[in-house]
Order: sequence, then C-alpha cells, then structure tokens
Amino acid sequence: MSLDWRRFVVAVDGSGQLRGCGQLKPHRGGLVELASIAVVPSSRNKGIARAIIEHLLAQAPRPLYLTCRSGLQPFYERWGFRVLELDEMPPYYRRLFRFAKVMLALVERGESMLVMKLM
Ligand SMILES: CC(C)(COP(=O)(O)OP(=O)(O)OC[C@H]1O[C@@H](n2cnc3c(N)ncnc32)[C@H](O)[C@@H]1OP(=O)(O)O)[C@@H](O)C(=O)NCCC(=O)NCCS
Repeated sequence: MSLDWRRFVVAVDGSGQLRGCGQLKPHRGGLVELASIAVVPSSRNKGIARAIIEHLLAQAPRPLYLTCRSGLQPFYERWGFRVLELDEMPPYYRRLFRFAKVMLALVERGESMLVMKLM
C-alpha cells in the first residue's frame, strides 16, 4: 500500500544484487512506521536486517510503529519495540488490526498480527 521507492533503503552485495530492504513509511496524521523489512532467503541470518533496521532507527522519529506477524515479536523487541493492546493503538492501526484479524483467521496460519511501538 502506498509504496514509493524513494523511501526505501536497500542492502546490496558486491555485484549490486539486492539482498534486503526496509523503509520508514509516513501515514496521515504524522504517524511513521518501520515497514517492508525483508531479506532474500539465501542471505538471512547474516545481520542484514539488523543493519537496515539500525540505519533506519538512527533517522526515525519517536514514537515509531510497526506491524508484524506474532512470530516476529522477539525479533523487534531487541530494539525496544513493545506490543500495543487494541485500546493503545492509533485509529489507523486499530482498523488495520481488525481487518488483519479476520484475514489471518481465514488463512489459519496459527499466527496473529501485532502492532508494536518504540518510544
Ligand atoms: C525477519 C527477517 C527480515 C530477518 O532478516 P535477517 O537478515 O535474517 O536478520 P538478522 O540476520 O539481521 O538477524 C538479527 C538478529 O535477529 C535474530 N532473528 C532473525 N530472525 C528472527 C526471528 N524470526 N525471530 C527472532 N529473532 C530472529 C537473529 O538471530 C539475529 O540475532 P543475533 O543478532 O543475536 O545474531 C527475514 O527472516 C525475512 O526477510 N523474513 C521474511 C519477511 C518478513 O517476515 N519480514 C518482516 C516483516 S514485519
């Protein structure tokens, strides 16, 4: 949704091949989200996501939000993000959360969506 390549930070290898990406995504009302964090499968567990996230955090405003599947909670807690309860979420995320809950229930992956916040 609302993807703009100019906001993306990419990690490339020595031959210029894309290895990972991430972005700081602004939403209406001044809310900013750490988003689109992904590393190609063959390059995982080498610290690429960590490097991208730390690069983005160095220039990100606070609070900073993100959404992720529940299995990634420990991954993001490393940087101080904490899970928000429904009544703590900004309205944008409350709507998204309710929608995602229905969608995830439909695909039955056994995971839920989390909204997390870094102060
Ligand atoms: C999640 C993902 C981005 C991690 O990328 P990565 O480059 O392999 O991560 P890193 O190597 O930088 O890992 C940093 C640390 O997090 C840990 N970690 C990695 N994946 C983790 C996970 N799923 N859960 C908990 N910790 C994890 C690593 O062990 C590492 O710990 P260390 O610093 O103690 O060694 C990658 O697996 C991916 O692209 N997954 C599919 C897309 C996705 O789910 N993106 C997140 C959208 S919210």
